[in-house]
Amino acid sequence: VCASSAECVDRGGVRAMMESALTARDRVGVQDFVLLENHTSEVAFIENLRKRFKENLIYTYIGSVLVSVNPYKDLEIYTKQHMERYRGVNFYEVSPHIYAVSDNAYRSMRSEKRDQCILISGESGAGKTEASKKVLQYYAVTCPASEHVQTVKDRLLQSNPVLEAFGNAKTLRNDNSSRFGKYMDVQFDFKGAPVGGHILNYLLEKSRVVHQSHGERNFHIFYQLIEGAEDELLRRLGLERMAQQYQYLVKGSCPKVSSINDRSDWKVVRKALSVIGFSDDEVEELLSIIASVLHLGNVQYSGEDSGSSYITTDTQIKYIARLLGVDFSVLKEALTHKKITAKGEELMSPLNQEQASSARDALSKAIYGRTFTWLVNKINTSLAFKDKFNSKNASVIGLLDIYGFEVFQNNSFEQFCINYCNEKLQQLFIELTLKSEQEEYEAEGITWEPVQYFNNKIICDLVEEKFKGIISILDEECLRPGDASDITFLVKLEDTVGGHAHFVTHKLADGKTRKVMGREEFRLLHYAGEVNYNVNGFLDKNNDLLFRNLKEVMCSSENRILTQCFSREELTDKKLPETTATQFKNSLAKLMEILMSKDPSYVRCIKPNDAKQAGRFEEVLVRHQVKYLGLMENLRVRRAGFAYRRRYEVFLQRYKSLCPDTWPSWDGRLVDGVSTLVKHLGYKPEEYKLGRTKIFIRFPKTLFATEEALEERKHSLATKLQASWKGYNQKTKYRKLRLSAVQVQAWWKGILARRRAQRRRQAVDTIRRFIKGFMFRHHPRCPENEYFLDYVRYTFLMKLHRALPKTVLDKSWPTPPPALTEASELLRKLCMQNLVWKYCKTISPEWKHQLEQKVVASEVFKDKKDNYPQSVPKLFVGTRLGEVTPNGQERKGFYAVPVTKYDRKGFKARARQLLLTASSAIIVEEAKLKQRIDYSALKGVSVSSLSDGLFVLHVTCEDNKQKGDAVLQSDHVIETLTKVAICADKINNININQSSIKFTLGQGKEGIIDFTSGSELLVAKAKNGHLSVTAPRLNSR
Ligand SMILES: Nc1ncnc2c1ncn2[C@@H]1O[C@H](COP(=O)(O)OP(=O)(O)O)[C@@H](O)[C@H]1O
Ligand SMILES: [Mg+2]
Repeated sequence: VCASSAECVDRGGVRAMMESALTARDRVGVQDFVLLENHTSEVAFIENLRKRFKENLIYTYIGSVLVSVNPYKDLEIYTKQHMERYRGVNFYEVSPHIYAVSDNAYRSMRSEKRDQCILISGESGAGKTEASKKVLQYYAVTCPASEHVQTVKDRLLQSNPVLEAFGNAKTLRNDNSSRFGKYMDVQFDFKGAPVGGHILNYLLEKSRVVHQSHGERNFHIFYQLIEGAEDELLRRLGLERMAQQYQYLVKGSCPKVSSINDRSDWKVVRKALSVIGFSDDEVEELLSIIASVLHLGNVQYSGEDSGSSYITTDTQIKYIARLLGVDFSVLKEALTHKKITAKGEELMSPLNQEQASSARDALSKAIYGRTFTWLVNKINTSLAFKDKFNSKNASVIGLLDIYGFEVFQNNSFEQFCINYCNEKLQQLFIELTLKSEQEEYEAEGITWEPVQYFNNKIICDLVEEKFKGIISILDEECLRPGDASDITFLVKLEDTVGGHAHFVTHKLADGKTRKVMGREEFRLLHYAGEVNYNVNGFLDKNNDLLFRNLKEVMCSSENRILTQCFSREELTDKKLPETTATQFKNSLAKLMEILMSKDPSYVRCIKPNDAKQAGRFEEVLVRHQVKYLGLMENLRVRRAGFAYRRRYEVFLQRYKSLCPDTWPSWDGRLVDGVSTLVKHLGYKPEEYKLGRTKIFIRFPKTLFATEEALEERKHSLATKLQASWKGYNQKTKYRKLRLSAVQVQAWWKGILARRRAQRRRQAVDTIRRFIKGFMFRHHPRCPENEYFLDYVRYTFLMKLHRALPKTVLDKSWPTPPPALTEASELLRKLCMQNLVWKYCKTISPEWKHQLEQKVVASEVFKDKKDNYPQSVPKLFVGTRLGEVTPNGQERKGFYAVPVTKYDRKGFKARARQLLLTASSAIIVEEAKLKQRIDYSALKGVSVSSLSDGLFVLHVTCEDNKQKGDAVLQSDHVIETLTKVAICADKINNININQSSIKFTLGQGKEGIIDFTSGSELLVAKAKNGHLSVTAPRLNSR
């Protein structure tokens, strides 16, 4: 989205075509000021900043310098995804970001094996500390890590909240203002993993411990401790949960700040201390010191008439003595007296009330300041790269986050030091940016015109020059014997540097300036603006004196942190200690050396308003910063030479598609390729220069046009690419598919073949075994034939199983193999038994009775009488006379059958009925008893072997009642005789005769019946007096 459509038209949409891979929103304004058409216009510059700021695009480049505007609100641009987006990506390919700068420094370190540093500058509250934290977080998240590295990363990250708690405070400019300078080295091993760190700290603003301006606070830790510590801890420290109780915390009348949550910060700090490696004891000792400072602040003095002073209440002294492990009375005396040496003798000289108060404050500052330094050292120990052997190979990225330029209503020694420090950094920036630019042209063999810019070296010299500089003069005043005071220092300044263009005092100023200056002030015209410094306290602060006897007390402390802070050697050292300003100057000089030895990246922070408000862009304020940060000059320098430069390979790679000769690839020298390309593009000679490794393009326009052409070309290329890509894609896909299919087929075929082969092998084995078994089948069981034998048995048993006889009558049975003959026989018996048993279970008693009779019939007649077979299927019955019984009633178990009786003499046939009772056979005629034969009298029965029905019942002759044997004929002769045999129990007495039967007629006479076979039944008396029976032949024998 273009911020103003007019502008879009104006530029012909060229801007929108700028670098690829950006979202529309990211294209608001230009993301690199170098591409600003009107690059000399401050208005255009600030308008670009504003436009982007309104869209929350807080980052913009000037070449490789990152300009960052404090948004004063949380933006969703610091997520892990964002970090990933910037990782390993070319600086220009993504929208400007602090991560891009971080990544660039990291990659330069890795690829060029050169130490890097990231210099973050800007005035107080512009976002330097936040930026440095973002850089650290970026490294912590994106750099490779191992387990050990993880603790290093944690410690690196956790060092921040601790240092901020002890070194940051709320000022009018910033709720979390760094009151110390910090330079942090992050060390990386050869694999690019962060393995250690080291922090250098610069001049803590100690005066804040004892005094704060209105609306400002003491260091965070005091409030955090009071708000956050558990009751028990507070009790041990003798503190109350009320900041207003403590003199050192009430000066700014601002104990609470809405943007700060002391209680939750306390938790963070407490945890961070553990991560860094503080033991619980150490934390307790550290906090004892902090509490002691608060107690010290509450020590009250009263004056005596004599001029000496005394302490009003002992309470605080008691606490301090206990917390720090010092002697109560010694401490008390030290806080009211000063030890002086006169004529080789040590004397205790009383202090007046004012002196005593400042001695007390000096002690507080000293304790706090030294504890802070101890803390930094402690953190350094915890961050130290343990692998001494490899430490030489470690590469380093330095991060400088130092207090920014600041101007208050009343500026003192601290502001003087801070602003001096910023002058030095600006100096470094100017030198390095110009130098590197210059060097680049030189290295590439390009001639160029130097650009004019304001060099602030003159101000640096004013402050730091030996003998003539302000610091030297201050030191001189501090050291010289006699009555030196802040005012004599001011006068001396006027005398010495009074004529300097950047120095003014009330006395030296013109009327207009005089109005805004106090008499005790001097003004420095800094690169970033004019600042009036009040000389009050300059000497004291520079001397930073602590009475000897107070030092002695501290040396005797049992608190282990304090014993490390106050050494006894210090007491005996006769040499004068360096003044604060000189120390600071020297440490800054060292810092510059460190920074100069590294490849710098710059982050220039800008504060959009003084109210710490989101979305507010105060132009005047921003313009001022743009001016003093030298951003316009920076831009001019970048532009004066060439707006754009690219290494040949990068340039050619990007634009080669715009020229047929270089597309799709160029085989010759890179420089020739680029030359061919730009000529084809119609670059005029004044528009570009070819260096040794880079092409330099003078105007952004040229590049824009090229970008535009590329964009158009991309469309057509994209279509072509798409087509061929699609084709390629499909082809590869097809090929892959085919290959997979073939592979699957091959596999499957293999599997099938293997299975078949296995089956065949098994079959061959089986057949072979079978044949062998067959050959050995008559041998006793042995390995050769066991399979065969088992098989034969098995098949026999299976066959038997299928062909078992189903009924008792079924006599079929498979033939067993020889080995199973016996078993087969047993089985057969078993089977038959089983069938019989089953059969028996199913037959009824009547049927059983029937069969029993049939069995008897069979025993008697089978194969003996001709008509027997015909009788077999005919069922035997109980009676054949219907309902008729001898006594007119049916009697069960009795047999009755109609018979023909032949007279004994004439063989006359008469119809009679034969009845069989339990004890006798009775012959009746129509219910008239004709003859009774007791079974006991029945000698036997005779019958012929032919098919006739005649039979003779033989009776004993002794029985006179009998009229002789009875000759009878029954149509059911088999049945009738069977019944007789059973009833009379005469089974063995049935005689079957072949041709004739003799029988008795009574009175000893005998009759004979002759049997012959004929065609039909004929019974008649023959001539010889015999009864002749002709029976038809039924069964041929
Ligand atoms: N990138 C940022 N995103 C959101 N807020 C920020 C950012 N940078 C700074 N701030 C806000 O501005 C305040 C001051 O920033 P800080 O880095 O402490 O300033 P400096 O160190 O330059 O004095 C921070 O406490 C924070 O509230
Ligand atoms: Mg800061």
